[in-house]
Amino acid sequence: MKGQSRFDFNQAAAVYDEWFTTSMGRYYDLVEKRAINRVLKNISGKKLLEIGCGTGHWSKYFSAHGFSVVGVDISFEMLKRTLRKRIPKAEFVQCDACHLSLRDNMFDIAVLITTIEFIEMPHIAIKEAVRCLKKPGGCLMVCTLNAESKLNKRRLAKNEVPYHKASMLSTKNLKYLLTPYGKPTIYTCAFSFNPTRPIPVIDPIFDSVAKTFKLQSGDIIIGEVKL
Ligand SMILES: C[S@@+](CC[C@H](N)C(=O)[O-])C[C@H]1O[C@@H](n2cnc3c(N)ncnc32)[C@H](O)[C@@H]1O
Repeated sequence: MKGQSRFDFNQAAAVYDEWFTTSMGRYYDLVEKRAINRVLKNISGKKLLEIGCGTGHWSKYFSAHGFSVVGVDISFEMLKRTLRKRIPKAEFVQCDACHLSLRDNMFDIAVLITTIEFIEMPHIAIKEAVRCLKKPGGCLMVCTLNAESKLNKRRLAKNEVPYHKASMLSTKNLKYLLTPYGKPTIYTCAFSFNPTRPIPVIDPIFDSVAKTFKLQSGDIIIGEVKL
């Protein structure tokens, strides 16, 4: 399918899920889940749209948390891995985030997890997500790699695949993207000093301190807006 991704994830699909089994992958997964759970607990309805669902790692998580999930992705190979997981209460569609083949006002929450930075026209993808959300009350959540974190700057400088193709956002950029649709809440997390050797007991303390002092340089940004 011809589409608008900055990186062709078809070539990464076979090994993509291995990331979640590395110590770094486990650490980021934990941090993201903590942040995402805070958003999920305020969602009253159960219809969730995941844009850029990849291999279904998160769709499986959302389904296990009681959501009925529609996942979309532009990559056929990534979706093939998702379908093999036979995720309950979930259906998947191959389409471009900028042209969702879905009806208006259908979902209680739309999420993009480390996806917006790989979409060629992020503002169009956000507009499409908003179109599909219920109004008023729908929630849009974007979880993305922070352009201002040391780790991500290093990844870009080293031309690391697939990060080298990502157009990473800062907290300011994300706020700018979401503001047309409401008043966004934006914060960063993942402040581990050494994500290759995370210390699960201590790292959450760094995140809480960083949140209190509104530090902007965590590796991950979470942005949320209620319509
Ligand atoms: C880094 S992966 C993240 C996958 C998943 N959200 C996760 O966290 O495991 C980015 C995903 O976004 C998808 N993607 C990139 N551009 C897209 C677009 N224009 N429309 C739909 N999906 C897109 C890619 O195919 C890939 O599966």
